[in-house]
Amino acid sequence: MVQSSPCSVYVFDAYGTLFDVHAAVRKHEQDLGPNAAFLSEIWRSKQLEYSWVRGLMGRYRDFWSLTEEALDYAFAKVPDADQSKRAELLDAYFSLEAYPEVRSVLEALKAQGKDLAILSNGSPDMLKAAVEGNGLQDLFDHVLSVDELRTYKTAKEVYELVGTVFRAFPETVSFQSSNRWDIAGATAYGFRTVWVNRTSQPDEYKDLAPSAQLKDLEGLLFL
Ligand code: LAC
Repeated sequence: MVQSSPCSVYVFDAYGTLFDVHAAVRKHEQDLGPNAAFLSEIWRSKQLEYSWVRGLMGRYRDFWSLTEEALDYAFAKVPDADQSKRAELLDAYFSLEAYPEVRSVLEALKAQGKDLAILSNGSPDMLKAAVEGNGLQDLFDHVLSVDELRTYKTAKEVYELVGTVFRAFPETVSFQSSNRWDIAGATAYGFRTVWVNRTSQPDEYKDLAPSAQLKDLEGLLFL
């Protein structure tokens, strides 16, 4: 018998947690050559760096713009990758595939009566495309974007959006992210945090430890 967790609200990071950020490059890897995976890594890491730097400077540009700028930087770093694929890569990124277990885990949580949300750096239009592209729109009570705040995680006000919408205390919220830095921010804020360490990364931010660590979302139902 699986015991239901005391958390009533389950909030998910989007990119890397629900949606596979490397799926866009993987789709075109034949054309992108031997450094396709490297291109994808640079694309993701620059996209994140731009969000942190712009958040700190107070010079917001939406996440889609940062995604485009990061891809241009990645192409400049990997000159052997075919740049004529730019538009197709961006199209694929706009509605990324969900990881295989996402739907069944969300459905099981919903069946337990949990409230579900996304809290993401993504712009509202890219989140809508990814959620609808994977047919997940009926499972979420809210899809929350930083865009209304014009800043990025790990700003405290981003995590505060959850309480504003659900009228829930932080300790009743279970927050899931594959990004260790996002887990640090959410832990500092006071959520129960679950680090979805899909790619077996070493731990960091040790003073801001997650409540649990999983390799994918399946285990969430047993916490
Ligand atoms: C997000 C990025 C950080 O969805 O993965 O917020």
